[in-house]
Amino acid sequence: MHQKLFILATIALSAVNAHTGTHVVANAAEAPATTFKFSETFPEAGIIPTAKPEWLELIKNVEIANAPVYKVGNGLVPGQDPHCDWTFTGCLAKDDLYKCPKGQWALTYDDGPSEFSPKLYDYLDTVNAKVTFFMVGGQVVKFPDYTLRAFKAGHELAMHTWSHNYMTSLTNEQIVAELKWNELAIKEVTGFAPRLFRPPFGDIDNRVRDVAAALGFVPVIWNFDTNDWSYSSNPEGYPQSWIEGNVTKWADNAATAIDGGVSLQHDLYDSTVNLAIDILPILDKAYDLIPVGACNSVKVYKEGNSTADKPSPPSPSSSSSSMTEESSASMVSASSIGLGIAALTAAALL
Ligand SMILES: *[C@@H]1O[C@H](CO)[C@@H](O)[C@H](O)[C@H]1NC(C)=O
Ligand SMILES: *[C@@H]1O[C@H](CO)[C@@H](O)[C@H](O)[C@H]1NC(C)=O
Ligand SMILES: [Zn+2]
Repeated sequence: MHQKLFILATIALSAVNAHTGTHVVANAAEAPATTFKFSETFPEAGIIPTAKPEWLELIKNVEIANAPVYKVGNGLVPGQDPHCDWTFTGCLAKDDLYKCPKGQWALTYDDGPSEFSPKLYDYLDTVNAKVTFFMVGGQVVKFPDYTLRAFKAGHELAMHTWSHNYMTSLTNEQIVAELKWNELAIKEVTGFAPRLFRPPFGDIDNRVRDVAAALGFVPVIWNFDTNDWSYSSNPEGYPQSWIEGNVTKWADNAATAIDGGVSLQHDLYDSTVNLAIDILPILDKAYDLIPVGACNSVKVYKEGNSTADKPSPPSPSSSSSSMTEESSASMVSASSIGLGIAALTAAALL
């Protein structure tokens, strides 16, 4: 079953590569004007970055599980899971967050921020719901104003890596780079460094966990998948009514369920944002909505000492110009990785 998922993902990736050209132009125009200036020169969006040498020091004297660097498309030996690979067996390690206490529900949205995120932010403001956003580094650099808005609204900001690749297919050094560049982008915008990250596709094993832990990061999986990607990529094949039906079941089970929920959604597309707005009231009636770090009582930023710490907005920096040719080029790539995320996630989740 899992092998099949990887194969589907590989096919989807080829399809994405074939189509990148047309969409890049369309999306490039959609990057909104911003006055935010990054002082850091960030790597190209969507590309596995290189770690700064000082970051690699952080894993130098750390014991890291000796799991293989899997090729995307190669799975585990059936029946064996020596490195607690969630993707393949659903194996969870003791520090993985994936649920809330009974009666509570954490809405989580991955792959943003995107041009459609503000519609979701607006809606969350009107219902006064606080949620968690797992943001892709390249998207943060493309949409710093949206990132800051989500932060100031009191949502939890967390990481979803720099380039949205399968983490078990990255070397230890690449895992460091994926997480630290993602952290740095969010920290530059908000003044706060996130502690929580979600591996793309839930693809994590003990090697990834050990590297992340050495950097001070905590993995977050989920226990309810809305399959919003199946809907967004093929609404006829995976109709909205199925998602509404399943979410209604989750809500109906609130009284009898042992645990509360952490659900997986995405704020990368208009269709998934509309769906998010459609289903939130169903869960809101049955559960207390609360961000995932808060429901697990963990610190969500490295600064401060409580999930209840009210972050203060950063002072605007004016140190450098971000709108160089180079950073415009990486914004273009941010659009193309968006497509990659879409197709890969649609094929590979669950
Ligand atoms: C829940 O989703 C599944 C597909 O994942 C679908 O077959 C089923 O009909 C849905 N349930 C409801 C109550 O709509
Ligand atoms: C945070 O820690 C400081 C000292 O380390 C303490 O004075 C403060 O009360 C703590 N704040 C919270 C919200 O726990
Ligand atoms: Zn994702």
